Amino acid sequence: MPSANTALFGLLTVFLFSLTLVESAASPAEHRKLCTVHACRDGSDDAPAVLRAFEECGNHGRVEFLNETYHIESIMNISGLNDVEIDLKGTLLWGTNISYWLNNSMPMGYQNQSTAWILGGDRISFQGHGYGTIDGNGQVWYDFIKGASNYPRRPHAITVYGTTNSIFEGLRFVQSQMWTMTVIHSSNVLLQDIYVSSTSNSSTSTANTDGCDTIYADNITFHRWEVHNGDDGISPKANSTNILVTNSTFVGGAGLALGSIGQYNGVFETIENFTAKDCTFVNTTHAAYLKTWTGEQVGYPPNGGGGGIGYIKNVLLSNFTLQNVKLPMSFTQCINFAGASGNCNSSLFSISNVSFLDIKGTAQQEPIVSLQCSAAAPCVNTTVEDVSELALRNGTLMKGYNCDHTMGTVGFNCTGHTCGTASGDGTC
Ligand SMILES: *[C@@H]1O[C@H](CO)[C@@H](O)[C@H](O)[C@H]1NC(C)=O
Ligand SMILES: *[C@@H]1O[C@H](CO)[C@@H](O)[C@H](O)[C@H]1NC(C)=O
Ligand SMILES: *[C@@H]1O[C@H](CO)[C@@H](O)[C@H](O)[C@H]1NC(C)=O
Ligand SMILES: *[C@@H]1O[C@H](CO)[C@@H](O)[C@H](O)[C@H]1NC(C)=O
Ligand SMILES: *[C@@H]1O[C@H](CO)[C@@H](O)[C@H](O)[C@H]1NC(C)=O
Ligand SMILES: *[C@@H]1O[C@H](CO)[C@@H](O)[C@H](O)[C@H]1NC(C)=O
Ligand SMILES: *[C@@H]1O[C@H](CO)[C@@H](O)[C@H](O)[C@H]1NC(C)=O
Ligand SMILES: *[C@@H]1O[C@H](CO)[C@@H](O)[C@H](O)[C@H]1NC(C)=O
Ligand SMILES: *[C@@H]1O[C@H](CO)[C@@H](O)[C@H](O)[C@H]1NC(C)=O
Ligand SMILES: *[C@@H]1O[C@H](CO)[C@@H](O)[C@H](O)[C@H]1NC(C)=O
Ligand SMILES: *[C@@H]1O[C@H](CO)[C@@H](O)[C@H](O)[C@H]1NC(C)=O
Ligand SMILES: *[C@@H]1O[C@H](CO)[C@@H](O)[C@H](O)[C@H]1NC(C)=O
Repeated sequence: MPSANTALFGLLTVFLFSLTLVESAASPAEHRKLCTVHACRDGSDDAPAVLRAFEECGNHGRVEFLNETYHIESIMNISGLNDVEIDLKGTLLWGTNISYWLNNSMPMGYQNQSTAWILGGDRISFQGHGYGTIDGNGQVWYDFIKGASNYPRRPHAITVYGTTNSIFEGLRFVQSQMWTMTVIHSSNVLLQDIYVSSTSNSSTSTANTDGCDTIYADNITFHRWEVHNGDDGISPKANSTNILVTNSTFVGGAGLALGSIGQYNGVFETIENFTAKDCTFVNTTHAAYLKTWTGEQVGYPPNGGGGGIGYIKNVLLSNFTLQNVKLPMSFTQCINFAGASGNCNSSLFSISNVSFLDIKGTAQQEPIVSLQCSAAAPCVNTTVEDVSELALRNGTLMKGYNCDHTMGTVGFNCTGHTCGTASGDGTC
């Protein structure tokens, strides 16, 4: 390499970033500042350059990533953005220094969980064109935690925090370190054409690799997600209101999971107005899973807790196609410390107005639904209709409805009882 180039390369490496300032020629109304982030050629940490780009262009600007691989070796807290376009044409690849992340991952605002990346602001438009990729390099984490639930400080891939009036589109999330995405303290966010895949190539599990969780979030819309993972697909948790999921496919994992909720003793939390329609579930444990903690607190979050109050109400689940799903719809109110079964009858958390309509395809075993509701707060008004095309894999039409403590069933009569344990998959 000629010495001038070497010197230039050295300079770029020292500054770790290169920002270009241009005025948009397209429209005089759009005087957006453009920051293009260039990856360090030597594979060193690109996070400082990314942070600089957002400092420079995070207000009425545009941050562009080229078709390159950017190495993210340190935490990024990118907050308070205002009217910014993010254009990802390449890959953000997270580093695998486990001790670094365990020491530095940031609190994400719930359950003592931690994150590698916080992104937030008003009017964010994050475009990935169907190929822009966020790669958590998660295999090292799947192997490291050896199946432990909620391993302390294990980082989530991205936390969309304090975000309003924003759109995330055409992004691919692969091999997330833990939960892929959480949308928290946010409202009016549209997330569409998103691909998520976290699968282990070793014998270790991909537990806790949720697709997207919503927490303290209102009016969040998911169109055309495809999620391959080992845990909750899309999961509204504490204070999730007006959440819509359409035209999405879930492979492996738990399916749609409402909760778990009710983990904080005496704390009032809700999930209200959750609608999912036109979705496909392949090899998932459930299409829909509603789970609350027991009435007694045992231990502390993230792996312990219980005694929470509040409600899940107005849930509409319709037009689902199932392939080889274990148990189409399950309620359990027995979630207890680290998954151990607790008292299934003590939860005061109430579940009402849940409808499961127009469900077809195949499941592994009876029943169609297992509604394990707490004696202390029976489930009110559960509807199951248009499931006559739901069959076992050998073609036998399904007919079982297992229930405990349901008040008001529409479209079906209970045919048996649930296992009465936290085993949400219906296996007694
Ligand atoms: C990105 O670059 C790689 C080669 O470096 C190329 O194969 C690929 O098609 C490019 N992707 C896009 C979307 O331009
Ligand atoms: C990993 O990060 C720690 C800081 O947490 C640092 O001391 C160590 O040198 C890093 N290891 C490598 C291989 O970069
Ligand atoms: C992220 O940055 C914002 C704005 O500077 C700050 O208020 C917040 O506390 C930071 N979050 C974390 C977890 O460091
Ligand atoms: C909900 O969010 C969408 C953006 O996804 C927005 O267009 C719509 O106006 C919001 N609805 C309400 C009631 O704020
Ligand atoms: C969902 O799929 C249906 C049928 O293919 C289509 O009519 C509808 O426009 C789609 N909606 C969205 C939001 O993708
Ligand atoms: C959750 O929602 C409940 C009911 O609306 C409200 O009382 C509580 O303050 C909310 N919690 C948070 C942290 O926003
Ligand atoms: C739930 O939807 C109903 C009907 O659209 C609406 O009246 C109610 O305000 C919504 N609840 C919340 C918490 O937004
Ligand atoms: C049901 O969902 C499928 C996609 O899974 C879609 O193609 C079909 O149009 C939907 N049916 C209705 C009646 O909306
Ligand atoms: C679903 O599971 C079956 C049986 O284990 C397997 O053959 C099939 O490839 C799986 N489908 C997907 C999309 O992973
Ligand atoms: C029962 O649930 C259905 C569907 O969620 C709703 O339309 C109906 O109003 C509910 N009935 C009562 C009494 O709340
Ligand atoms: C189909 O499978 C179910 C459950 O394994 C079994 O009970 C039933 O007898 C089978 N039906 C036929 C026709 O083989
Ligand atoms: C439920 O049982 C009642 C009483 O036997 C019967 O009248 C009703 O038709 C049954 N409903 C369904 C959906 O099978």
